Amino acid sequence: MTQNTNSVFYDRISAELADIDAQGLTKPERVIASRQGPVISVNGRDVLNFCANNYLGLAGDERVTQAGIKAMEKWGAGTASVRFICGTLEIHKELERAIADYLGFEDTILFAAAFDANGGIFEPLFTEADAIVSDSLNHASIIDGVRLCKAKRYRFATSDMADLEAQLKQARADGAREIIIATDGAFSMDGYIAKLKDIRALADQYGALIMVDDCHATGFLGEKGRGSYAWNEVEVDFVTGTFGKALGGAMGGFICAKADVVALLKQRARPYLFSNALAPAVCGSSLEAIRIAAGEEGDALRAQLFANAARFRSAMTAAGFTLQPGEHPIIPVMLGDAKLAQDMAARMLELGVYVIGFSFPVVPRGQARIRTQMSAAHTFEQIDAAVAAFTTAGKELGVI
Ligand SMILES: Cc1ncc(COP(=O)(O)O)c(C=O)c1O
Repeated sequence: MTQNTNSVFYDRISAELADIDAQGLTKPERVIASRQGPVISVNGRDVLNFCANNYLGLAGDERVTQAGIKAMEKWGAGTASVRFICGTLEIHKELERAIADYLGFEDTILFAAAFDANGGIFEPLFTEADAIVSDSLNHASIIDGVRLCKAKRYRFATSDMADLEAQLKQARADGAREIIIATDGAFSMDGYIAKLKDIRALADQYGALIMVDDCHATGFLGEKGRGSYAWNEVEVDFVTGTFGKALGGAMGGFICAKADVVALLKQRARPYLFSNALAPAVCGSSLEAIRIAAGEEGDALRAQLFANAARFRSAMTAAGFTLQPGEHPIIPVMLGDAKLAQDMAARMLELGVYVIGFSFPVVPRGQARIRTQMSAAHTFEQIDAAVAAFTTAGKELGVI
């Protein structure tokens, strides 16, 4: 074995880690010893879980799990191939049809993750002749996807329609051929729902397309849980989404769009062309989750989810906490200081409630928070127990 001569590099990495830690910004991985659900096993005991994207409670659902097992039994572990070589199974086509029909689009292209869907959508469809107008709080994967595309970039202050209009005007003045407005349908760190009615009106005025990332909306916002555009009762051109949250919680992403757009993406989108096909177990569990979400049971789950969110919001506000306003089941408890957010999360775990402190770079500096997330699987008793634990920890740490 030759001696490693890169000690300067390794010293720099260690120093950077120590610096992150000194700022109280380390994000520890807490290991869970049970299935995802409203109650999970952590450090040898059961705790209430208020930080999963398990909006409809389907992540640990037995039917969803069994559907995954069945698909794996039939189709094996995977394709050992990308889709266009020898990696397209009947179950991939079935899943593409099911999500397109559910969300009301002509067709769908699947990806290994929504991160890849957002990374792959812009570059094949837009060139230096075009403009992308992007909300400043968009998810990291949209930001990365925009960076990979040669189109001119414009950014508008989050949900600021006057700024969006100014950017659209600028893009037109700069001679853009096509303009696409890109936005999260619901912003993951704040729970704000995009103002798609206003965005639609501006898009129509300036001849722009709309792309929405509905990772935190598909399955539960709007009629039948179709997403943020259904919530706002408008149409959009492209929706990107995930199977890793409300729709079963496994993994995998997609883009829904017109058939020709999907056909072109299947020729050109790099994360689709150069990455393995979605695992059959994921397809099977996602199909079952879509079946549940699209049906009457989905309506009942959505009603429970929003009742839970309303109960938590009103009790936490009454207890004196500062929450981000809104109706979304993402409910951030604002704390400001990164260290305080970590201490609060640690104390909450001692009190039997699993939540996580979010700090820079996931949220802006000085806006650390605990992002709670409600699930249809939570009971009112569990919501009340979480509020009681927050109240105890909040008083101890001087938050309320
Ligand atoms: C808004 C948004 N977009 C994209 C993603 C990426 O989704 P996936 O886990 O499927 O890659 C996430 C997940 O955190 C998200 O919150």
